[in-house]
Amino acid sequence: MSGKKIFILGGSGFVGGHLVRRLSADGHEVTIATRYAPAARHLAIVPGVRIRQCRPYDLDSLTQALEGHDLAINLVGILNERGFGGKGFRRAHVELVEKIIIACEAAQVSQFIQMSSINAGEGSSYYLQTRGQAEQLVQQAQVSGLLDTAIFRPSTIFGPDDSFLNRFASLLKISPMLPLARPNARFAPVYVGDVVEAFARVIAGERLDGQVYELCGSEVWALKELVVWLRDELGLRRLIIGLPDWMGQMQGMAFNLVPGKPFSSDNFKSLQLDSVCTENGFLRLDIQPWGMGELAPTWLGASGRHGRARTGPDDRDAS
Ligand SMILES: NC(=O)c1ccc[n+]([C@@H]2O[C@H](COP(=O)([O-])OP(=O)(O)OC[C@H]3O[C@@H](n4cnc5c(N)ncnc54)[C@H](OP(=O)(O)O)[C@@H]3O)[C@@H](O)[C@H]2O)c1
Repeated sequence: MSGKKIFILGGSGFVGGHLVRRLSADGHEVTIATRYAPAARHLAIVPGVRIRQCRPYDLDSLTQALEGHDLAINLVGILNERGFGGKGFRRAHVELVEKIIIACEAAQVSQFIQMSSINAGEGSSYYLQTRGQAEQLVQQAQVSGLLDTAIFRPSTIFGPDDSFLNRFASLLKISPMLPLARPNARFAPVYVGDVVEAFARVIAGERLDGQVYELCGSEVWALKELVVWLRDELGLRRLIIGLPDWMGQMQGMAFNLVPGKPFSSDNFKSLQLDSVCTENGFLRLDIQPWGMGELAPTWLGASGRHGRARTGPDDRDAS
């Protein structure tokens, strides 16, 4: 396989950091497009990586940045908007994808991978609704022959530098008690290394034929079960309280007003759906995904004594 010239929007973030290193190791040239170049400087030393500052909502700026690439990847996503009413979600998820598709055509980039989320288009949250609208745009571009595409829909992604386990870990460390909205919501946390492997295989196999890949880890956890497990792995004594829905809703409304919205009414709505796969796309890519309980203890510092029974092969490399 010869190396491609790959453009990644949102490549400065958590998944981007892992993906950029993997694509570089596979011999690709990678451009990380960012709104603010210093945000990606930690990746500047990765071989074959270039950082390009651009204005992603400005069609000319985006088109210029895309020129000369074979494949574009969109990793931009937000969990909360600044205001209310869905405008911020529409801008970051839908308008941006609309612009990427137009810019790809103008810059003659013929391949596109969209990072979406499990349950895109379902439920009542702006987050999931706008994710679904973006997917429709990508699928239209595929059907009309404008682009060769793939869509990834992961459940919550975990890794040593994630914002999921790390956020709960920080909350557990500072607070004697943790009230949890939607404690029975189910997740199949997926390892960032497996997500990146899926991207690498789709790119290497030229499997950009419009497929949608749901990506789930091998274990399904209820939210409260997961946080209790994390507390025990961290060796903390904390009270974790599952809130009934009326209180969870109030928690969302209260946190709507906190700067940075660590939780929101929209998050509460997203949590009304289980983040589990109907058909795990890893199987189509011949990848055996890790489970969180078998892998995360390797960096949480414990020996895994509280982890579940291993469900994956024993000889896998967790690096
Ligand atoms: N992490 C998860 O558990 C998870 C689960 C399911 C789906 N996903 C999806 O996977 C993708 C990558 O996730 P991630 O965890 O790596 O996200 P992340 O760390 O937040 O990175 C996303 C990047 O998007 C850019 N960005 C953020 N807000 C933006 C905005 N309003 N307009 C334009 N660009 C913006 C930022 O890049 P610059 O500041 O450099 O421009 C940021 O580094 C996202 O689409 C996310 O929704 C993630």
